[in-house]
Amino acid sequence: MSDILESKFIDETVKAAIIDVIENNEFKGNFGSRMMFRLMGNGTIRKIMLIGLGEREKFTDEKARLIAGKAVLDARESNVEELAVLPFSTVDDSLIEAIVEGMHLSLYSFQRYKTNRTSSNFGPVLATILVESDSERFQMIADKTHLTSEAVNSTRDMCNLPPNECPPAQIAKLALALEEFGIKVTILERYEMESIGLNGIVSVGKGSNNPPKLIVLKHSGGSNSQKPYLLVGKAVTFDTGGISLKPGDKMDEMKYDKCGGCAVLGILKAVALLGLKLNVIGIIPSVENMPSSSSYKPGEIITMYNGKTVEVLNTDAEGRIILADAIAYGISKYQPKAIIDLATLTGAAIIALGANVAALVGSDEQLIAKLIQISKKTGEKIWELPLFEEHHEQIKSSIADIKNIGGRPGGAITAAAFLSNFTSEVPWIHLDIAGTAWTQDGTYEKSYNPKGATGFGVRTLIKFLIDRSNGQV
Ligand code: BES
Ligand code: MG
Ligand code: ZN
Repeated sequence: MSDILESKFIDETVKAAIIDVIENNEFKGNFGSRMMFRLMGNGTIRKIMLIGLGEREKFTDEKARLIAGKAVLDARESNVEELAVLPFSTVDDSLIEAIVEGMHLSLYSFQRYKTNRTSSNFGPVLATILVESDSERFQMIADKTHLTSEAVNSTRDMCNLPPNECPPAQIAKLALALEEFGIKVTILERYEMESIGLNGIVSVGKGSNNPPKLIVLKHSGGSNSQKPYLLVGKAVTFDTGGISLKPGDKMDEMKYDKCGGCAVLGILKAVALLGLKLNVIGIIPSVENMPSSSSYKPGEIITMYNGKTVEVLNTDAEGRIILADAIAYGISKYQPKAIIDLATLTGAAIIALGANVAALVGSDEQLIAKLIQISKKTGEKIWELPLFEEHHEQIKSSIADIKNIGGRPGGAITAAAFLSNFTSEVPWIHLDIAGTAWTQDGTYEKSYNPKGATGFGVRTLIKFLIDRSNGQV
């Protein structure tokens, strides 16, 4: 607190007002506490909001993100249009990042289908962070963070689209819109997928009148000889379960089954706008999983793109089938350095870790350690699950190479075991974001994650790629 009272940004009147509130024990500074009061007179500062940060030693970036979010929501609530943040004196890069993220992500709200949009429920707030020194450098960091947060919000916008307005063709359109930023986009149509043997994607897509699409995005920021990072995102625009139909309860939430793919779109957008000096490929298999007379059926055996055969025992385990083809296609076409896939893949991941932690399964210790380390900074919680021979055993089929379900035990892991049959020897990480991609039963409330899609994974993976482009291993 004393830091702030020495600040050059506030005059004696303001300081006196703050001291008064504190000396009268009206504000104690407990974490999360806020107090707003109006200043008399005609100075430029009209209102002061004191924000409690709690004990200094226990303060973290995540706390900064949460409290910056709360503060800006309070400000919007009281119709403040312009605000300046005066942090305590030890400002570092990650604190600036956290404050910008907290504010920008909290103000998000999906208003597209509200015919009466009022400025009070989604109006912009102009925020300035006051720093005592290094303002140019901090401005640069704030600008980059703003861009990343914008990528998260645009991911949320895509994820939140209702299924009637977002068939696979719409995902393809959203991808093509990124060409404006220098990304090369290719869409493979169903007949092309049929002709090259992407039978997994074609099979899952058979039940819908909205044809499947395989979307490929290419950012070439590195040299030609540099192997690309491959990001693969599941985009099932609606998952009814197909012939193995899901129960009706909460089925509407399966509009979010495209969140992995939308995250890949958001990440690629940021990668392009940041001009990262590395090569990144995004691949998004997009289908609608529907029951109909043309649907794929339990009992079918599919010969996948990489030649392996899959016995389908439940058409609701569709995500792994389309991802498997997309991964194998990405490997054969682009020989990636590493693969990261994002998917709302299993309810079992939620059973295992709850709705606030994504499940990770991977094949490369170093890559895993790096990603988990970054996730600790971004606040996007990730926990590694093991993958053992026993898990592979669960998905062996008596009549094909593998089957697409492994029973209830360890369901998130057997789904990953399935995918590992298609990753060859390429270092690979799978992120099951079923619990974290949108706010649902069991979601811990955070100011910066308003209701609906969260854009989970976007910040962590952008940070991961930024680190990689800076040559950090
Ligand atoms: N999209 C679902 C997974 C899901 C369920 C995500 C609930 C978020 C919330 C996926 O396609 C699916 O249906 N998985 C099945 C697999 C099962 C049939 C082996 C599941 O988790 O029940
Ligand atoms: Mg399913
Ligand atoms: Zn699904």
